[in-house]
Amino acid sequence: MHPISKRRFLGSISAGVAALAALPLARIEHAFAQVATVAADELAADETFWQSIRKQYGVTRDFIQLENGYYSLTAEPVLERYVHHVREVNATSSFYMRTKQADDKLAVRRELARMLGCPAEELIITRNTTESLDTVISGFDWKPGDEAVMAEQDYGSMLDMFKLQARRHGMVNRIVSVPLHPQSDDEIVAVYEAAITSKTRLLMVCHMINITGQILPVRRIVEMAHRRGVQVMVDGSHTFAQLDFTIADLGGCDYYGSSLHKWLGAPLGSGILHVRRDRIAGLWPLYADASFADDDIRKLNHTGTHPAATDLAIRDAIAFHETIGAARKMARLRHLQRYWTDRVRGTKRIVVNTPEAVERSCAIANVGIDGVAPADLAKTLLDKYRIFTVAIDGAGVHGVRVTPHLFTTTQELDALVGALKRIAS
Ligand SMILES: Cc1ncc(COP(=O)(O)O)c(C=O)c1O
Repeated sequence: MHPISKRRFLGSISAGVAALAALPLARIEHAFAQVATVAADELAADETFWQSIRKQYGVTRDFIQLENGYYSLTAEPVLERYVHHVREVNATSSFYMRTKQADDKLAVRRELARMLGCPAEELIITRNTTESLDTVISGFDWKPGDEAVMAEQDYGSMLDMFKLQARRHGMVNRIVSVPLHPQSDDEIVAVYEAAITSKTRLLMVCHMINITGQILPVRRIVEMAHRRGVQVMVDGSHTFAQLDFTIADLGGCDYYGSSLHKWLGAPLGSGILHVRRDRIAGLWPLYADASFADDDIRKLNHTGTHPAATDLAIRDAIAFHETIGAARKMARLRHLQRYWTDRVRGTKRIVVNTPEAVERSCAIANVGIDGVAPADLAKTLLDKYRIFTVAIDGAGVHGVRVTPHLFTTTQELDALVGALKRIAS
């Protein structure tokens, strides 16, 4: 390349990267500045305010979207930035990958680590929770007879990965069942503790059970397991950017994985894995990478060439999330769930499969109707009432999972309540 054109070329790249730092957030920054002194719980009930936030999302009008637990759509300002990043990376292609990618990725790791409250050296960006947690499960140095503890309400892919280790290494899985309506944290901790033996090495626990939305007392479970010499891996698929917490609140868990396309609203195919520093050396990577030391977490992150624009858009999703504020977001999501569950609890034939205590749930809840198969309930809700949910029929849970998001209105939830009551009668 000619030196002058090269200088121009580099100049245009740094200008482009500077532009990457900016985000069209002005509208929501302004909206939240107006309510800066309003308490999160009070703001949570202000429908007019949240109607204005709904405008930030290009949510479909074809049906009422109450299945936001799978993944949440990316807000418009973040989507705009994402498209920009795709174009930018595409324009400079290998030059971006060879000269900028590593630094940008590190900057994103740092921001995610700040959010989670851990050193960047203990966090990597993955594609999703599945990759994060399966990296740990398959990376363990299992010996025949070693044991792991998990719950039947855990996510199927992780349970399958443990089953695979049992077949491959002769380790043993002990599966507990979490009570749907626990009376206390002690009751839940006791369920897990009863499954621990002298051979237990790893305990997997959901921060939030995906089929019911139940939040588990992770700190208490971690403390108990550590007293018994057992490491703990937390499935935080639904909690990063839904609940307002840091890793310290989880009692020093050994591993934590989450998907950023769920509650952070980052593009599809983004996740995190946190591994406590002293646990890194003990894990075998899935893909070999001899360029990193055994105790360097990046050894677990060699996934080959991947869509770098997704990593860049994570920063934009963080900026959007932080403009809303973690506490305000959690309060609004919990408010929406309580809005509809409070109106159907106690109704004849309607069964809410999510604990009633406020601190035991947030956005997600599950509801069934006596005598109606979950699949039929989900179908009727969609076909007759244009409400999209997902049927859950297993692990002691029979109903549909209902997951509102920040763009959900109480009118939409009124429609759900009305539909459930009509079906139940
Ligand atoms: C509890 C739980 N763990 C793990 C996962 C897997 O997440 P992903 O498909 O993003 O890897 C999910 C997905 O819904 C989940 O609900």
